[in-house]
Amino acid sequence: MSVRRLHPEQPASFAFNRENLAWAKAQIKKFPEGKQASAIIPLMWRAQEQHEGWLSEPAIRYIADMLGVPYIRALEVATFYTMFQLAPVGKVAHIQVCGTTPCMLRGSDEIIKVCKKRIAETPHTLSADGNFSWEEVECLGACVNAPMVQVFKDTYEDLTVESFEKVLDEFAAGRVPAPGPQNGRKSSEPLGGATVLLNGGGAIVVQSPVKSPAKAAAKKPAAKKPAKPSGKAK
Ligand code: FES
Repeated sequence: MSVRRLHPEQPASFAFNRENLAWAKAQIKKFPEGKQASAIIPLMWRAQEQHEGWLSEPAIRYIADMLGVPYIRALEVATFYTMFQLAPVGKVAHIQVCGTTPCMLRGSDEIIKVCKKRIAETPHTLSADGNFSWEEVECLGACVNAPMVQVFKDTYEDLTVESFEKVLDEFAAGRVPAPGPQNGRKSSEPLGGATVLLNGGGAIVVQSPVKSPAKAAAKKPAAKKPAKPSGKAK
């Protein structure tokens, strides 16, 4: 993962608009007295959404002041989580490609090649039209649907080069593609449909029972012990 630093060019100031300010105050009230700092992540996320998808240094200071926490604490949060963007991102989509082991073994390198070809050669670089940007991140918690990418709040999973290109095509055409698995399966169910616990006429039928090694061993007939030699020759 790349080093996460604040962008050299920052806006002069930041303040929540009226709607977001009311929302932020309501969030802070949810926490017990003295624990308001715990609202820092939702507030930073809302600030990021308000400011073109990235979190500026004035916004980090603004939220720190609002919650009464030292600037360095707020900066630690903003630079730790890859959900916070510290530089301008594509207006239409910022693609976060998971490159951790399960996704890497399932082809995340090929997904990154598509990003380099269609968006920009290097991460955190805007595409020529300013609509797209990309970066590689660590595990996003959807390993059973590897490889996958996250675009703002949505994830696109079970990707191939072809299906990922289609996702990009949809964004480029001004549409938001349906998130989730892109190979037709539902969540992380088997691609070929369920194989166990099928409903057979009202009763649950286990089609492919899996025996535990302990039970299988218990059912095996005990091996006969060899007869003891009597010691007397007949
Ligand atoms: S390794 Fe990619 S989502 Fe976990």
